[in-house]
Amino acid sequence: MADATSILHISPVIPVVTIDDPHNAVPVARALADGGVRIIELTLRTESALTSLKRIADEVPDILVGAGTVLTPAQADAAVAAGARFLVSPGVTHTLMDHVLTLGVPFLPGVATIGEVMGVLERGLTAVKFFPAGPAGGPDYLAAIGAPIPQVQFCPTGGVGLDSAPRYLALPNVTCVGGSWLTPRGAVQNGDWQQITELAREAAGLGAH
Ligand code: 3PG
Repeated sequence: MADATSILHISPVIPVVTIDDPHNAVPVARALADGGVRIIELTLRTESALTSLKRIADEVPDILVGAGTVLTPAQADAAVAAGARFLVSPGVTHTLMDHVLTLGVPFLPGVATIGEVMGVLERGLTAVKFFPAGPAGGPDYLAAIGAPIPQVQFCPTGGVGLDSAPRYLALPNVTCVGGSWLTPRGAVQNGDWQQITELAREAAGLGAH
Protein backbone atom coordinates (compact mmCIF):
# COMPACT_ATOMS: atom_id res chain seq x y z
CA MET A 1 0.00 0.00 0.00
CA ALA A 2 1.69 3.20 -1.16
CA ASP A 3 -0.50 5.70 0.69
CA ALA A 4 1.40 7.02 3.72
CA THR A 5 -1.55 8.23 5.81
CA SER A 6 -0.80 5.76 8.62
CA ILE A 7 2.82 6.99 8.77
CA LEU A 8 1.61 10.50 9.61
CA HIS A 9 -0.16 9.27 12.75
CA ILE A 10 2.86 7.76 14.50
CA SER A 11 4.26 10.95 16.02
CA PRO A 12 3.35 14.66 15.96
CA VAL A 13 6.88 15.25 14.65
CA ILE A 14 8.79 13.14 12.13
CA PRO A 15 12.47 13.76 12.83
CA VAL A 16 14.49 14.35 9.66
CA VAL A 17 17.83 12.81 10.58
CA THR A 18 21.19 13.04 8.83
CA ILE A 19 23.95 10.77 10.10
CA ASP A 20 27.57 10.90 8.94
CA ASP A 21 29.02 8.10 11.06
CA PRO A 22 26.96 4.86 11.06
CA HIS A 23 28.19 4.13 14.60
CA ASN A 24 25.85 6.90 15.72
CA ALA A 25 22.78 5.46 13.97
CA VAL A 26 21.54 3.07 16.65
CA PRO A 27 22.21 5.42 19.60
CA VAL A 28 20.36 8.25 17.82
CA ALA A 29 17.39 6.00 17.12
CA ARG A 30 17.31 4.76 20.72
CA ALA A 31 17.58 8.33 22.03
CA LEU A 32 14.55 9.35 19.96
CA ALA A 33 12.58 6.29 21.04
CA ASP A 34 13.45 7.00 24.69
CA GLY A 35 11.89 10.44 24.23
CA GLY A 36 8.72 8.87 22.80
CA VAL A 37 9.35 9.43 19.08
CA ARG A 38 9.10 6.12 17.24
CA ILE A 39 9.74 7.16 13.66
CA ILE A 40 12.76 8.44 11.71
CA GLU A 41 13.12 9.88 8.25
CA LEU A 42 16.78 9.12 7.62
CA THR A 43 18.09 11.27 4.78
CA LEU A 44 20.12 9.72 1.97
CA ARG A 45 22.49 12.68 2.06
CA THR A 46 25.61 10.98 3.35
CA GLU A 47 27.77 8.27 1.81
CA SER A 48 26.97 5.86 4.61
CA ALA A 49 23.25 6.61 4.93
CA LEU A 50 22.16 3.15 3.80
CA THR A 51 24.44 1.50 6.35
CA SER A 52 22.90 3.65 9.07
CA LEU A 53 19.42 2.85 7.82
CA LYS A 54 20.09 -0.88 7.88
CA ARG A 55 21.50 -0.76 11.39
CA ILE A 56 18.43 1.06 12.71
CA ALA A 57 16.09 -1.31 10.86
CA ASP A 58 17.93 -4.36 12.25
CA GLU A 59 18.67 -3.20 15.80
CA VAL A 60 15.94 -0.78 16.89
CA PRO A 61 12.66 -2.57 16.27
CA ASP A 62 10.56 -0.04 18.17
CA ILE A 63 11.44 2.69 15.63
CA LEU A 64 9.87 2.81 12.16
CA VAL A 65 12.72 3.89 9.90
CA GLY A 66 12.18 5.35 6.45
CA ALA A 67 14.44 6.91 3.86
CA GLY A 68 14.28 10.62 3.08
CA THR A 69 15.75 12.65 0.21
CA VAL A 70 14.83 9.85 -2.22
CA LEU A 71 15.44 11.41 -5.64
CA THR A 72 15.73 8.43 -8.01
CA PRO A 73 14.22 4.96 -8.53
CA ALA A 74 17.64 3.43 -7.81
CA GLN A 75 17.78 5.17 -4.42
CA ALA A 76 14.26 3.95 -3.65
CA ASP A 77 15.27 0.36 -4.43
CA ALA A 78 18.46 0.58 -2.38
CA ALA A 79 16.60 2.09 0.58
CA VAL A 80 13.95 -0.65 0.57
CA ALA A 81 16.67 -3.30 0.29
CA ALA A 82 18.38 -1.77 3.34
CA GLY A 83 15.16 -2.01 5.35
CA ALA A 84 13.35 1.29 4.77
CA ARG A 85 9.71 0.92 5.85
CA PHE A 86 8.63 4.09 4.03
CA LEU A 87 10.07 6.53 1.50
CA VAL A 88 10.04 10.33 1.45
CA SER A 89 11.02 12.62 -1.42
CA PRO A 90 11.47 16.40 -1.41
CA GLY A 91 9.48 16.70 -4.67
CA VAL A 92 7.71 14.52 -7.22
CA THR A 93 8.50 13.43 -10.75
CA HIS A 94 6.55 10.99 -12.91
CA THR A 95 9.61 8.73 -13.12
CA LEU A 96 9.99 8.46 -9.37
CA MET A 97 6.27 8.11 -8.75
CA ASP A 98 5.82 5.38 -11.40
CA HIS A 99 8.60 3.38 -9.83
CA VAL A 100 7.88 3.86 -6.14
CA LEU A 101 4.24 2.89 -6.60
CA THR A 102 5.40 -0.57 -7.70
CA LEU A 103 7.38 -1.17 -4.50
CA GLY A 104 4.52 -1.63 -2.05
CA VAL A 105 5.93 0.64 0.66
CA PRO A 106 4.27 3.82 1.91
CA PHE A 107 5.47 6.85 -0.05
CA LEU A 108 5.33 10.44 1.19
CA PRO A 109 6.05 12.62 -1.83
CA GLY A 110 7.09 16.24 -1.41
CA VAL A 111 4.81 18.91 -2.88
CA ALA A 112 4.86 22.69 -2.84
CA THR A 113 2.11 23.69 -5.29
CA ILE A 114 -1.57 22.92 -5.79
CA GLY A 115 -0.84 21.37 -9.20
CA GLU A 116 1.58 18.95 -7.56
CA VAL A 117 -1.00 18.06 -4.91
CA MET A 118 -3.51 17.33 -7.69
CA GLY A 119 -0.96 15.20 -9.53
CA VAL A 120 -0.33 13.11 -6.44
CA LEU A 121 -4.08 12.76 -5.80
CA GLU A 122 -4.52 11.45 -9.34
CA ARG A 123 -2.14 8.64 -8.38
CA GLY A 124 -4.27 7.73 -5.38
CA LEU A 125 -2.12 9.22 -2.62
CA THR A 126 -3.68 11.47 0.01
CA ALA A 127 -0.70 11.99 2.35
CA VAL A 128 2.13 14.29 1.30
CA LYS A 129 5.11 16.21 2.64
CA PHE A 130 4.73 19.98 2.21
CA PHE A 131 8.26 21.11 1.43
CA PRO A 132 9.85 23.56 2.00
CA ALA A 133 6.99 24.53 4.28
CA GLY A 134 8.24 27.89 5.55
CA PRO A 135 9.49 29.39 2.27
CA ALA A 136 6.57 27.88 0.30
CA GLY A 137 3.92 29.74 2.28
CA GLY A 138 3.65 28.31 5.79
CA PRO A 139 0.40 27.60 7.65
CA ASP A 140 -1.59 30.23 5.73
CA TYR A 141 -0.82 28.50 2.45
CA LEU A 142 -1.88 25.10 3.79
CA ALA A 143 -5.08 26.55 5.21
CA ALA A 144 -5.88 27.96 1.75
CA ILE A 145 -5.20 24.61 0.01
CA GLY A 146 -7.54 22.91 2.50
CA ALA A 147 -10.54 24.76 1.06
CA PRO A 148 -10.56 23.22 -2.44
CA ILE A 149 -8.68 20.02 -1.49
CA PRO A 150 -9.66 19.01 2.05
CA GLN A 151 -8.97 15.29 1.49
CA VAL A 152 -5.17 15.62 1.48
CA GLN A 153 -3.17 15.45 4.72
CA PHE A 154 0.15 17.27 4.92
CA CYS A 155 3.38 16.85 6.84
CA PRO A 156 4.91 20.34 6.61
CA THR A 157 8.69 20.19 6.72
CA GLY A 158 11.44 22.71 6.07
CA GLY A 159 11.88 25.65 8.39
CA VAL A 160 9.51 24.15 10.98
CA GLY A 161 10.56 24.16 14.65
CA LEU A 162 9.12 23.71 18.12
CA ASP A 163 7.86 27.29 18.07
CA SER A 164 6.06 27.14 14.70
CA ALA A 165 4.85 23.50 14.88
CA PRO A 166 1.67 24.25 16.90
CA ARG A 167 0.34 26.62 14.21
CA TYR A 168 0.65 23.88 11.62
CA LEU A 169 -0.69 21.14 13.91
CA ALA A 170 -3.80 23.20 14.60
CA LEU A 171 -4.82 22.95 10.92
CA PRO A 172 -7.36 20.24 9.98
CA ASN A 173 -5.20 19.14 7.03
CA VAL A 174 -1.99 18.70 9.04
CA THR A 175 -1.45 15.41 10.89
CA CYS A 176 2.20 15.92 11.85
CA VAL A 177 5.18 18.10 11.00
CA GLY A 178 8.74 17.18 10.10
CA GLY A 179 12.03 18.73 11.04
CA SER A 180 15.70 18.28 11.73
CA TRP A 181 15.70 20.13 15.03
CA LEU A 182 15.38 16.96 17.15
CA THR A 183 18.81 15.73 16.07
CA PRO A 184 21.21 18.70 15.87
CA ARG A 185 24.36 17.69 14.01
CA GLY A 186 26.53 18.72 16.98
CA ALA A 187 24.57 16.53 19.39
CA VAL A 188 24.88 13.57 17.02
CA GLN A 189 28.61 14.06 16.49
CA ASN A 190 29.31 14.59 20.20
CA GLY A 191 27.17 11.67 21.30
CA ASP A 192 24.84 13.87 23.32
CA TRP A 193 22.02 11.32 23.35
CA GLN A 194 20.43 12.91 26.41
CA GLN A 195 19.88 16.16 24.51
CA ILE A 196 18.23 14.25 21.66
CA THR A 197 15.96 12.39 24.09
CA GLU A 198 14.92 15.68 25.68
CA LEU A 199 14.20 17.29 22.29
CA ALA A 200 12.21 14.20 21.31
CA ARG A 201 10.20 14.29 24.55
CA GLU A 202 9.37 17.96 23.95
CA ALA A 203 8.30 17.17 20.36
CA ALA A 204 6.24 14.12 21.36
CA GLY A 205 4.44 16.37 23.86
CA LEU A 206 3.12 18.55 21.03
CA GLY A 207 0.41 15.92 20.67
CA ALA A 208 -1.39 14.92 17.51
CA HIS A 209 -4.99 15.81 16.89
C1 3PG B 1 14.07 17.97 4.90
O1 3PG B 1 14.73 17.32 4.11
O2 3PG B 1 12.93 17.64 5.18
C2 3PG B 1 14.66 19.22 5.46
O3 3PG B 1 16.02 19.30 5.28
C3 3PG B 1 14.30 19.44 6.89
O4 3PG B 1 14.20 20.80 7.01
P1 3PG B 1 14.66 21.54 8.35
O5 3PG B 1 16.14 21.29 8.48
O6 3PG B 1 14.36 22.99 8.10
O7 3PG B 1 13.90 20.98 9.50
